[in-house]
Amino acid sequence: MKAVVTGAAGFIGSHLSESLLNAGHTVTGIDVFTDYYARERKDHNLAKLRTNSRFTLLETALADVDWPRVLEDVAWIFHLAAQAGVRKSWGRDFHVYTVNNVEGTQILLEACKGRPIERLVYASSSSVYGDDVPLPMREDARPQPVSPYGVTKLSAEQLCHLYYVNYRVPAVSMRYFTVYGPRQRPDMGFHRFFLAAMRNEPVTVFGDGRQTRDFTFVSDAVGATVAASTRGAPGAVYNIGGGSRVELLDVFELIGRITGRPLRLNMTEPQAGDMRDTYADTARARTDLGFAPSVMLEQGLRAQFQWMIEAGLFTA
Ligand SMILES: NC(=O)c1ccc[n+]([C@@H]2O[C@H](COP(=O)([O-])OP(=O)(O)OC[C@H]3O[C@@H](n4cnc5c(N)ncnc54)[C@H](O)[C@@H]3O)[C@@H](O)[C@H]2O)c1
Repeated sequence: MKAVVTGAAGFIGSHLSESLLNAGHTVTGIDVFTDYYARERKDHNLAKLRTNSRFTLLETALADVDWPRVLEDVAWIFHLAAQAGVRKSWGRDFHVYTVNNVEGTQILLEACKGRPIERLVYASSSSVYGDDVPLPMREDARPQPVSPYGVTKLSAEQLCHLYYVNYRVPAVSMRYFTVYGPRQRPDMGFHRFFLAAMRNEPVTVFGDGRQTRDFTFVSDAVGATVAASTRGAPGAVYNIGGGSRVELLDVFELIGRITGRPLRLNMTEPQAGDMRDTYADTARARTDLGFAPSVMLEQGLRAQFQWMIEAGLFTA
């Protein structure tokens, strides 16, 4: 089958593209290499993909793609391209989020109208929930994001839904809960914590460290995303959480044990836009997609640490 993966040079998109190629499919990756983090990292993410003759990369923004040509004979679209990150989404930077996350998604959905695609799987986020929903978070709770980033992810999710309702674009949204593992973005927590441990630098902790996250190993997120391309109900939303909900303080302890270097913590004020807790109810994904996360936190953290060693991130 032919698949399109937007954001293919990114953390999750590169793993997803590899998984599709391993299953025998052909992949067109689309990525504009935004400057949110170093291009060098994205080139590393793509290294294996570039050796596969069934992989093509289009280095272009969503808005500039020749969609009719790219979507010819395509069965699946995996839409992961976005401006990620909660903390930078305030102020003037919000524009970057609306262009990439909302307008980019709308352009893609317009291009899908009337095309015989099997599924469009959209990478949404637990950030859509905010702090006002009961735990564990269920897909039918009323989302009230606490960050501008979350607002753009929710807007794009709702665009997916309304293009399904009005034009039968078979869009499915996956609400990923904090994804980690090899290639994790350099702005994300575990990446920064490992670096701090190995450099013997203090970690800045926003809040009291007792906030919780439901961490999801990248292969579990990818498995669920691939399953959604055949089994996801068009128009539906799915929570994808790894089942490892822990307090940040426990993560620091674990990272200290794995690296053999206890972390020094520098506690500061909570940041606007950060959620207090995330915890996924994954019953819907279990039923519809057969989702069952298989990598628990310590195993996944060790895999990420090993990757960081091999990628030379501690020697740079
Ligand atoms: N990593 C997580 O924990 C997490 C959690 C929830 C949701 N998500 C969502 O999953 C997706 C992938 O996240 P990631 O962590 O792999 O991020 P990432 O930044 O590593 O990957 C996103 C990629 O999209 C590309 N991109 C951005 N805007 C583009 C545009 N307009 N046109 C073409 N390419 C563009 C970037 O260059 C980047 O390579 C995003 O949609 C993100 O919002 C991620």
